[in-house]
Amino acid sequence: MNSRKERNQPVKTESIVTAGPIERFAPGTVTAVPSGQFYLACLADGSLLALSRTCTHLGCSVPWDEEKNKFICPCHGSTFNLTGEVLTAPAPRPLDIYPVRIENGIVKVDTSSVQKRDSFEPEQAARI
Ligand code: FES
Repeated sequence: MNSRKERNQPVKTESIVTAGPIERFAPGTVTAVPSGQFYLACLADGSLLALSRTCTHLGCSVPWDEEKNKFICPCHGSTFNLTGEVLTAPAPRPLDIYPVRIENGIVKVDTSSVQKRDSFEPEQAARI
């Protein structure tokens, strides 16, 4: 029998955002996906990471600076590299990520399942 606590748990549903066809993402680039409030980072080997745009310091929205090739938080100056790792504090940890899957050449991201991490590991990135 379910306890009252279990019954009151909200049902977690997937929230899939379609980011586009895989060819749209070139190695070494970052593409903003405004509808999902995340960035799609395409790493040098073509694998894909969906990065939250929320700074892990105090939650400001972090823009990608294409010229400087890094994310630069406007609030307190934290910077993050292409894989979301911290280059400059005060951010305490890398940008959070969302699961990415590639179905029939279309990149899809589950924005209902944010994942915190301590560092970048290659297996976090999705490949065809
Ligand atoms: S909120 Fe980004 S550095 Fe403080």
